[in-house]
Amino acid sequence: MGKHILILEGDGIGPEIVREARKVLDVVNDKFDLGLTFENELMGGCAIDVHGVPLADSTLERARLADAILLGAVGGPKWDKLDRSIRPEKGLLKIRSQLGLYANLRPALLYPQLVDASSLKPEIVSGLDILIVRELAGGIYFGEPRGIRVLENGEREGYNTYKYSESEIIRIGRTAFEMARKRNRKVCSVDKANVLEATMLWREVMDTLHKEYPDVELSHMYVDNAAMQLVRAPKQFDVLVTGNMFGDILSDAAAMLTGSIGMLPSASLDKKGRGMYEPCHGSAPDIAGLGIANPLATILSVSMMLRYSLALPDVADAIEVAVGKVLDQGYRTADIYTEGTKKVSTSQMGDAVVAALI
Ligand code: IPM
Ligand code: MG
Repeated sequence: MGKHILILEGDGIGPEIVREARKVLDVVNDKFDLGLTFENELMGGCAIDVHGVPLADSTLERARLADAILLGAVGGPKWDKLDRSIRPEKGLLKIRSQLGLYANLRPALLYPQLVDASSLKPEIVSGLDILIVRELAGGIYFGEPRGIRVLENGEREGYNTYKYSESEIIRIGRTAFEMARKRNRKVCSVDKANVLEATMLWREVMDTLHKEYPDVELSHMYVDNAAMQLVRAPKQFDVLVTGNMFGDILSDAAAMLTGSIGMLPSASLDKKGRGMYEPCHGSAPDIAGLGIANPLATILSVSMMLRYSLALPDVADAIEVAVGKVLDQGYRTADIYTEGTKKVSTSQMGDAVVAALI
C-alpha cells in the first residue's frame, strides 16, 4: 500500500507555498511511481474560522493515521486577539505534543549560489552546514503551571515553568548524537547552566549520555554565547542540540546565515521516525496572496519527508538536486534576489523546480 500524507496548508502564505510543494510531490509521485495518496485538513486560523478551534479532534485523528504530515504555516493578525486558548499557534503546539514529535531537525545549509544573499560576509558563511536539533515537545513551551494570575496587590503576573526530565533530555540527546554520526561527529549542547536548574540537569545528562557515543565530540555552550558564535564564526558548529525555546530562537538566527529563512525546511519526528514537515518560517501575513513568497523551504521539507518518514532517499536527493539546479539557473524569489539574478514569483519558482525534475 502506498503511503498516505496529510496536508495542512494553514494560514497566510501557507496555501501558496504548499501548492508549489504539492506540484513537486505530484511529479515525483508519478515519475518514481510512489503510489502516495493525499488528503487536506485545516489547522490554525483557518480551522478556527470553520471549527472554532485551531486543531479539531477529527484532524488530530487524521494526523495520527497519516504516514507523514506536510504543513505550511499557521497564524495571522486576524486571530491575534482571540482568547489565548484558541490561538492558531495552539493548534501547532497541540499536534506537536499529541503526536510526540519531540525531535525537530532544522538544517541551516548555505547553497553556494546564495552566498551573496546572506547578511554575513561570504568568508564567514560559505560552506556553512549546521544541523539544529531542537527539543520540540517539552521545556517552557509546555511546562505547567503556567498562566496569567492576579496577585494580592491586584496587579497581574504572567508565569511559565521551564522543566526537563532526564528521559526527555536523553531522547533528544540520542537524536543529536545519532545525527552527528552521519555528519562531522560534533555535537554542541546549548544551555543556560550557569543560571537555570533545568539546564544544569540538561548538561549533566548530556555528559552521561555522551559516554555511549565516544566517537562523537561533545561540547557545551551557554545560549547567549551560542547566539554570538552563530553570527561570529558559524562554521565551528556541526550539530547543535538544545531545548525548545532556545532552539526556536537560535534556528531563526541560523536561518538568516543562509540568506533567507525562506530556504529552511524542518522535520519534527516521533520516536518511530514518523513526522511532520514544515518550513521554519511563519505564515508571513504581510506578503500573503502577493505570490512572492519563497516556496523552496516547503519544497525542501518535502525532501526531508521523503528521506526521514518515507524511506525514499533517492527521491529526496532528486528534489535537492533540482533545487540546486534552479538556483544555478539564476531563479530567485524576492527574499533571495540579488542583482544579476532572475526574480520570479512563488509559482514560477515551483514550476522551475518541477521542470528541473523532469
Ligand atoms: C517555530 C515557530 C513556532 C514555535 C510558533 C509559530 C509557535 O516560531 O516553529 O519556530 O515557536 O515553535
Ligand atoms: Mg520559530
